[in-house]
Amino acid sequence: MDNFSLKPDIKFGEDSLDFLKTQKFKRYFIVTDKVMVSLKFVDKIIEKLGSNICVKIFSDVTPNPTVESVEKAVKEMLVFNPECIIALGGGSPIDACKAMLYFGDKVKDELKENSEKIKFIAIPTTSGTGSEVTSYSVLTAGDKKIALSNDSMLPDIALLNPLFMETLPKKVIADTGIDVLTHSLEAYVSKKSNPFTNSMAIEAIKLVYKYLVPHYNDSKILIPRENIQYASCLAGIAFNNSSLGINHSIAHTLGAKLHISHGRANGIVMPYVIDVNTNAYNLYSKIAEELKLPASSVEEGKKSFKIYVEILKEKLEIPKCLKDLGIPFEEYKRLIPEFICDIKNDICTEYSPNTLSDEEYIKLLLKIYFGE
Ligand SMILES: NC(=O)c1ccc[n+]([C@@H]2O[C@H](COP(=O)([O-])OP(=O)(O)OC[C@H]3O[C@@H](n4cnc5c(N)ncnc54)[C@H](O)[C@@H]3O)[C@@H](O)[C@H]2O)c1
Ligand SMILES: [Fe+2]
Repeated sequence: MDNFSLKPDIKFGEDSLDFLKTQKFKRYFIVTDKVMVSLKFVDKIIEKLGSNICVKIFSDVTPNPTVESVEKAVKEMLVFNPECIIALGGGSPIDACKAMLYFGDKVKDELKENSEKIKFIAIPTTSGTGSEVTSYSVLTAGDKKIALSNDSMLPDIALLNPLFMETLPKKVIADTGIDVLTHSLEAYVSKKSNPFTNSMAIEAIKLVYKYLVPHYNDSKILIPRENIQYASCLAGIAFNNSSLGINHSIAHTLGAKLHISHGRANGIVMPYVIDVNTNAYNLYSKIAEELKLPASSVEEGKKSFKIYVEILKEKLEIPKCLKDLGIPFEEYKRLIPEFICDIKNDICTEYSPNTLSDEEYIKLLLKIYFGE
């Protein structure tokens, strides 16, 4: 039986922070990073929560959160015993918070502690991972990225507010924006896609097509900024229901071993994955049609869409291939067997349109390194 779930309530718009005023809890635990504290975003949240409350801030989350940092945070959370937990930040704080809740529940189960379910509010400040509407949490363990998926990690509320995205550095807009495109694209070509996920994925792709470059060029303009936030959220709902694909599995692997940000790794890999996904050429062509790109045949449509991706990468200043990042080839070549093993084990690989042999993975990884 197939399923399409729409769990988090989504509060959005410029006044969406007012939702926090309606919450009547006494104990709030805020999971965030140092940048959110210094930008005074944490203060904006606390202001809305009102008086006579007890707030504890955990701001030690780093980009690509590690298992160790989650363990530390779980202890602090259990000691504080919050009624409501608020994740504020990009995918890293939101994913860390999800994992804390997941492992915190496990500890409570072991101790046979009965407690009220903690309300979970996710407030994204990047557009983005879509983590505010997904049951995924991506953690780093040593030189591996592990994607966990469990419905218990879905937030109760996703609170979108375009105010937070004004301060985004250009590189973060580029990396997270191309991540949105990867989510919607992989959701659309996934073996588990369905009419519900397709409608959201296509809308997200259209919004990225129209608004990502304007948002990248000037994050102060409201319309592109808020539309990329919608695209991020739509793509998150789509891929949470249809799964992702090897673009993400490869990005997880290369990101963890070569220290490349999540979105950047996805962007570097994307045109080469489009080429190997032969079973999805008709779908890439359909997307090209939707975007009014030349698509008189499947071949032409797929080619037009790939060219669009290549031009977008240039506009966002995302490197064409790994060689351009200055990664030494000998080191890369040595790691290829490990890469292939990790890619095959990644939970995103299962529903990718094509199943690749080791030989095909080697060819693909060499293309990703050298470019065409
Ligand atoms: N859970 C999911 O479904 C999912 C999906 C994709 C990626 N991920 C994971 O999410 C993480 C990446 O998240 P991300 O790309 O959102 O980046 P991030 O959370 O790591 O943030 C990147 C940088 O941007 C800064 N930043 C965030 N918001 C800002 C703002 N408004 N103004 C100024 N600076 C800001 C952060 O402090 C940080 O330094 C990775 O670990 C990735 O694997 C998760
Ligand atoms: Fe992603």
